[in-house]
Amino acid sequence: MAIDAADMGLLLLGKPCCRQQDQVQIPCWQLEVGGKIPLTAVVGVTGRTITNYEQEDLSYRVDGNSLLNNGLLKFLAVMNILTAPNLWPSLPEICRLRTAFSSEWSRSMPATNDPTNSAAPEPVPFIDLVAQYQNIKTEVRAAVDQVFETQHFVLGEEVDQLEAEIADYCDARFAIGCASGTDALVLSLMGLGIGPGDDVITSPFTFFATAGAIHRVGARPKFVDIDPVTYNLDPQQVEDAIDENTKAIMPVHIFGQCADMETLWRLSVRNNIPLIEDACQAIGAEYRGRRAGVLGTVGCFSFFPTKNLGGAGDGGMITTDDAELAVRLKRLRVHGDVGGYNHVEVGFNSRLDALQAAILRVKLRHLEDWSEGRRQNARRYSELFRGLNLLSSIDPPVTAADQRHVFNQYTLRIRGGMRDSVMEYMRGEGVGCAVYYPIPLHMQKCFDYLGYRAEDFPESNRAASEVLSLPIFSELTDEQLLRVAEVLSAAASSATALKFPTGGVADRRAA
Ligand SMILES: Cc1ncc(COP(=O)(O)O)c(C=O)c1O
Repeated sequence: MAIDAADMGLLLLGKPCCRQQDQVQIPCWQLEVGGKIPLTAVVGVTGRTITNYEQEDLSYRVDGNSLLNNGLLKFLAVMNILTAPNLWPSLPEICRLRTAFSSEWSRSMPATNDPTNSAAPEPVPFIDLVAQYQNIKTEVRAAVDQVFETQHFVLGEEVDQLEAEIADYCDARFAIGCASGTDALVLSLMGLGIGPGDDVITSPFTFFATAGAIHRVGARPKFVDIDPVTYNLDPQQVEDAIDENTKAIMPVHIFGQCADMETLWRLSVRNNIPLIEDACQAIGAEYRGRRAGVLGTVGCFSFFPTKNLGGAGDGGMITTDDAELAVRLKRLRVHGDVGGYNHVEVGFNSRLDALQAAILRVKLRHLEDWSEGRRQNARRYSELFRGLNLLSSIDPPVTAADQRHVFNQYTLRIRGGMRDSVMEYMRGEGVGCAVYYPIPLHMQKCFDYLGYRAEDFPESNRAASEVLSLPIFSELTDEQLLRVAEVLSAAASSATALKFPTGGVADRRAA
């Protein structure tokens, strides 16, 4: 609804944050038309009225408890409800106004040491690779210099060392570096002899490369739906889908948590079908004490910069315990060359750069600390969400029993059709968040030829419309975590007040 300022009278955007018990000073920026209209009420974006406030010039003191009790953590819309009770702006409109007038807003802030009067909070980025780099800059620069000194840029000693260290980290017999996670998947499929006429069972709720790699080798992605709690492949549906054309199962350890690998491993062994782990998001994840990458026939990793172990560009790695397969993978990444320009089969160029390997070796030394930092942040979010009574509107990620989740993404479910408005609100407040993944793969235009209907994978569809990923990188401060949680809480309560449909997973299942 567009705001007719003449009707509305006065809109004041309040201080962005408060804590219980605080006396909150709300400096004002006025949108005033036709003279000042007497203030008759302070109304939260939830639509509830706050009674205990005092007016002082152009600012209003409001008790922190009353803000919290009224579901307001972020800001207030103060309006003359007598003249315009039906014309309160919609939440997106308030966000838009707040953004539009933010410079005016910060100018109106009184200069003071009172924390309740401090300037608008710093934005919280979705990911901050600069913060990570600052902590390891000296080590990285030394490693890069070393490569330049040797002038050996492709494969070679650094890559050999990285392969040995990753094999050790994952407890695999072999590790083979390659140019990307996508290539790791393609090479693995090729190495296992999968091609035209073959089906590979996988998830429609993943990054495109999973199914793209299957298509790339000429095989068909055969999708089955996901488990609604972990977002990983539902093993029962995998079992039901296996037939004589199935030549591999490719579970994705989505967001950094392993799929139900014991059940999938049994299916793989019983049906003599290889199990290719798409572990691109899950380096360091554990399932029953064993690391991702050694839970199937072959494991594929990505070193894309935003991964838990991310390079300064693209890179990938394959792990396996199968000696014969390892030899084949090593030659496939260099055009099938067994040495001396002897090409025993056609591969392609998927060599890993020495610069990437050198940087990744530095970062690997920090990976455990970073993963623990992510896990700790996830625990902190859980505490904060409980404290803010958010669990009736969101489903935080669940770590399955016997698993070590490494949270490449911290992905929660926003119930009741509110995801997009919550995301818009959070971004409007400078809190980074993202949707992984908005379109399930069976709905992608390029896979029309597979013949799936939209309704074939209801849980993947539902996840695509409900999930939201929050900042989780290990350098997040407690203040930033608190801010994310408070903004989420304000977004959720505002969205609820706008009467989005409610009801959680359990309600819908029962319906
Ligand atoms: C689940 C999954 N599979 C495959 C890939 C492909 O990795 P890369 O981008 O390194 O090619 C990614 C990377 O985002 C991924 O998240």
